[in-house]
Amino acid sequence: MNLESNIASILISEEQIKDKISEIAKQISIDYEKSDLLMVGVLKGSMVFMSDLMRAMNINTKIDFMCVSSYGASTKTSGQVRILMDLREPIDGKDVLIIEDILDSGVTLSYLVDVLRARNPKSIAVCTLLDKPSRRKSEVQLKYRGFVIPDEFVVGYGLDYAEDYRNLPYIGVLKPEVYEI
Ligand code: IMP
Ligand code: MG
Repeated sequence: MNLESNIASILISEEQIKDKISEIAKQISIDYEKSDLLMVGVLKGSMVFMSDLMRAMNINTKIDFMCVSSYGASTKTSGQVRILMDLREPIDGKDVLIIEDILDSGVTLSYLVDVLRARNPKSIAVCTLLDKPSRRKSEVQLKYRGFVIPDEFVVGYGLDYAEDYRNLPYIGVLKPEVYEI
């Protein structure tokens, strides 16, 4: 399949993403300069964002990953979160920064924050590239946020529809007919 054939429009360009990431990376580098930082990427969506973000920082970080699932092949959350893969190491005493691709209903992130907070990290905070506030069901406090976006289903830069389009280098809006069939 041609990667761009089902994309209706570009919502956020590669250039805009790059600029925003260097802004956030600068701030994280200041805020966590004296910390034992652990970035926790939420697989799979955050992998592209996280790999660019960590390389734009000038402080050291450790990384780990969790894989959670709430969606299946649908564009709406099922409201249920399952941990498919947990962290490798304990996080007690660590400054944990959860890295997410998009905050939508908030169900996934509020669940994750609760689960990780119970493991006694020194601090826990959330960084998301995208925020879609219009469909929020669970409140999530954000420390870093890239872009606020309207209620449209977006793909690319790590975000998928039914596991496709993750390698698109920008954030695009999927043609509605792709998922309305
Ligand atoms: P939440 O639990 O509803 O906040 O959903 C968070 C997860 O839903 C994200 O990690 C994404 O995997 C997925 N998601 C939500 N909105 C979109 C979208 O517009 N495009 C692709 N994935 C999305
Ligand atoms: Mg995700």
